[in-house]
Amino acid sequence: MKTDSNTFYSILQDNIISGAFVGQNILTFREITSTNNLMKELMAKSTPLPEGTVIMAESQTAGKGQQQNVWHSEAGKNLLFSMLLLPRFLQPNNSFGLVAAVSLGVIKPLQKILGKNVCIKWPNDIYYGQKKLGGVLIENVLAGQTIKSSIIGIGLNINQEVFPDYLPNPISLQQILQKKSAIKEVLLQICASIEVYYLKLKVGESAEIKQEYLDNLYGFGQQLAFQTNDTIFTGEIFAVNHFGLLGIKKQNETIFFDLKQVKFIFN
Ligand code: BTN
Repeated sequence: MKTDSNTFYSILQDNIISGAFVGQNILTFREITSTNNLMKELMAKSTPLPEGTVIMAESQTAGKGQQQNVWHSEAGKNLLFSMLLLPRFLQPNNSFGLVAAVSLGVIKPLQKILGKNVCIKWPNDIYYGQKKLGGVLIENVLAGQTIKSSIIGIGLNINQEVFPDYLPNPISLQQILQKKSAIKEVLLQICASIEVYYLKLKVGESAEIKQEYLDNLYGFGQQLAFQTNDTIFTGEIFAVNHFGLLGIKKQNETIFFDLKQVKFIFN
């Protein structure tokens, strides 16, 4: 892959990257159905994949988004990958810690380049202002009271310049920076950064991660417009609870929503 002079590459040169296991084993494909699906298929084979294995594709024929959506990405232009984590130290009802750790791991290297405009839109969309730069799809495999494995699928818009009209608010690095970025270098930055947050989670720093997540959450503590099935209302995000539900204060009420129940309305 090309590593033309760009900011991500220079950070790589500065040796900030020091990942120990995430991204040490990267499998790259030109076109597959979905990196998440291929990870599942490879996991079903007899040789176990090492934790931190990454599958990256230039293009997906059936890229999956949240809530059964299709993930759109022009071939060869964007970062599409899945990483395997084995968070056996987490109980399924604590899995929001992983969502927060991964989201922070993705935004931190992006903030170095793009500044504080990069944020997390609950629960784990990657936003630049009010525009969607990327998304995360986490698929956990449970075994009793533990998470046996977790496939972390990440799609980030890097060099795509034109998006289909049906996407409400996409944006890419290229559109922000007005120059191309080296996709593989972005991948390496994000792998190292996710590893940092994942290890924090592993040593029990979930309260710190949760606070940092809220500090980087789009609209936290602000009056925003939301939509539920039957109403549009103004409210303030005041919390994300242990289960990852979004807490909104609406006049004198406080309500917790799951992903299917509430939508953000952008200006
Ligand atoms: C979202 O809807 O915001 C989540 C999008 C996640 C897309 C990525 S692209 C790489 C990985 N493979 C998939 O099929 N989906 C995820």
